[in-house]
Amino acid sequence: MGTNDKILVTGAGGFIGGALVSVFRSKGYRDIRAVDVKPFGEWYQRFDDVENLSLDLNLKENCERVAKGAVEIYNLAANMGGMGFIEHNKALCMLSVLINTHMLQAALANGTKRFFYSSSACVYNGDKQKTFEAPSLKEEDAYPAMAEDGYGWEKLFSERMCRHFREDFGLTTRVARFHNVYGPWGTWFGGREKAPAAICRKVIEAKVSGKHQIEIWGSGVQTRSFMFIDDCTDGIQKITSSEILEPLNLGSSEAVTINQLVDMAEEIAGIKLKRNYDLTAPKGVNGRNSDNALIQKYLHWEPNTPLRVGLEKTYRWIYDQYMARERGEAGVVREAGATR
Ligand code: GDD
Repeated sequence: MGTNDKILVTGAGGFIGGALVSVFRSKGYRDIRAVDVKPFGEWYQRFDDVENLSLDLNLKENCERVAKGAVEIYNLAANMGGMGFIEHNKALCMLSVLINTHMLQAALANGTKRFFYSSSACVYNGDKQKTFEAPSLKEEDAYPAMAEDGYGWEKLFSERMCRHFREDFGLTTRVARFHNVYGPWGTWFGGREKAPAAICRKVIEAKVSGKHQIEIWGSGVQTRSFMFIDDCTDGIQKITSSEILEPLNLGSSEAVTINQLVDMAEEIAGIKLKRNYDLTAPKGVNGRNSDNALIQKYLHWEPNTPLRVGLEKTYRWIYDQYMARERGEAGVVREAGATR
């Protein structure tokens, strides 16, 4: 794809979509169309030299409008969030199937050359994630299917729709299964935030307030791997331009317990907190890690930012956001990344 070709990024007002637009700009792409349902003031990052559109992609006519002329489409639009959100919004998460259906149809009608779909580790069979020992999930572990209720089933269905649009209609589709992505410009409060941002925020709250306590959801021995945003945007580009047909894990293979995540955040903050475990809070699966054998085989690469390094950058960014909010600076909270 040339730097003059039109790229469409959906979900561009969100964390990963906004980061992807930022990367394409810095690589010299000059015809980027960024679309999100959120009003402009709520986009995490927004750039004046990009065509920004605030449109609801649940509607087919909007998908047709935004796909027009797009050589590549990166479909990151979805209703999503951390466990606190997806556990309580299953129907809403499943409704994202409208976006994916309409975007695939619009891409096909437009003659789009490549279509990237962002799937999730939530497609994996829950039975394989019952142990706390950070089971490494291979791509084949999605079947027999028993995905995360609501959100995971929608992702699995939409993955398959991508496959069949490729097989039956000849649309070039590429799919990555993201494992818990974190970093600056990510959601850090409000209910959709995932564990890394939530833990950073809680540590900062404790530090600033002087109340040296933290509430952790679950027992703290759940395991996860967390992928830094720069690895995610690198991986999206590598997978989209590759000839890999099957959905591929895109995640870090550095598994930690949630307690270890809290240890790291405490160390960055230079503080030790009393831990209170809320066993009634949303927990998701007990253990999950990304098996990266397949991505290594195909791309000789895998996400490799150490969690300690990425978490420090994330902590510092959230700290700045938090302090700006404390000072009552208007527009710094969700619009922090707007127009820079
Ligand atoms: N969100 C959050 N907030 N999670 C916490 C907190 C907290 O304050 N304290 C502990 N946790 C625990 C959760 O209970 C869960 O066991 C673990 O940290 C990870 O939670 P999340 O980061 O919210 O979600 P996840 O890893 O279970 O799933 C996320 O990643 C998937 C991809 O790997 C979600 O964002 C999914 O939507 C996504 O598909």
